[in-house]
Amino acid sequence: MSNISSEEILKLRDIAFLAAKAGGVVLQNYWGKQLNIREKGRAGDLITEVDQQAEAEIISVIKRHLPDHGILAEESGKTGTSDNQYLWVIDPLDGTTNYAHGYPQAAVSVGLMVSGKPLVGVVYNPMLNELWVGAQGLGATLNDIPIQVSTTKNLADSLLVTGFAYDRKEVEDNNYAEFCTFTHLTQGVRRGGSASLDLCHVATGRLDGYWERGLKPWDLLAGVVILTEAGGKITAYDGSEFNLDSGRILATNGYLHSSLVEVLKSISPINLIIR
Ligand code: IPD
Ligand code: CA
Ligand code: CA
Repeated sequence: MSNISSEEILKLRDIAFLAAKAGGVVLQNYWGKQLNIREKGRAGDLITEVDQQAEAEIISVIKRHLPDHGILAEESGKTGTSDNQYLWVIDPLDGTTNYAHGYPQAAVSVGLMVSGKPLVGVVYNPMLNELWVGAQGLGATLNDIPIQVSTTKNLADSLLVTGFAYDRKEVEDNNYAEFCTFTHLTQGVRRGGSASLDLCHVATGRLDGYWERGLKPWDLLAGVVILTEAGGKITAYDGSEFNLDSGRILATNGYLHSSLVEVLKSISPINLIIR
């Protein structure tokens, strides 16, 4: 990692920006139109032509500039080089359910890992004209303006966000007990419906913390870079090192981190399994 110059990071950041913008054009073009909505397998896990077309546009920008780089994208899987030194991780439409309902909390998420370490992230919500960029060591911005996490220090003063994975009706670990508990302890818990935007809202200081399970690398990578660069803290639920492949994240402004770890440790699940 240390052998990547800031010039190269800037170049990669610009390509991530162009790719996210290209995906965003597709989201904008279809916004408010009748969509062809299907389920991907599990009930509620939707896919539309927007997911597929946005992904194709994003990949074509990356391939045009960087034909040797690897790509992991939600709808088309892994393509490109096998050594994976450079791996682009793409969610073409994060918040498909929101988008399909005309609720404008959805985004294109484009992240880059180099040798397994997050380097660059761009998250773009074209419906609200909000574009976040983060790059290792270069800070994070929203629409070109530098951002910072909040300074909220007490759970009782905080506003949090979470989400519920598509397998929530099938597993005991459904996040309902966590949601109820934090709703009691804070000023509120939002369910945003787009993991990448949830992370960006924490990065911007609009929200103070975020936890969720059942996620994929493409839900998280770009937002992880942005939040880290905005001064946030990211770990596993128990405070140990974050693992992108675990699907589980605890992300806060830093001040509240240990309080959330303590509460998460104390939770017993509410079992609502539907067979
Ligand atoms: C989903 C969103 C949602 C989260 C789900 C994700 P998708 O992504 O990020 O907030 O709760 O677990 O799968 O399916 O809209 O790309
Ligand atoms: Ca997603
Ligand atoms: Ca998606």
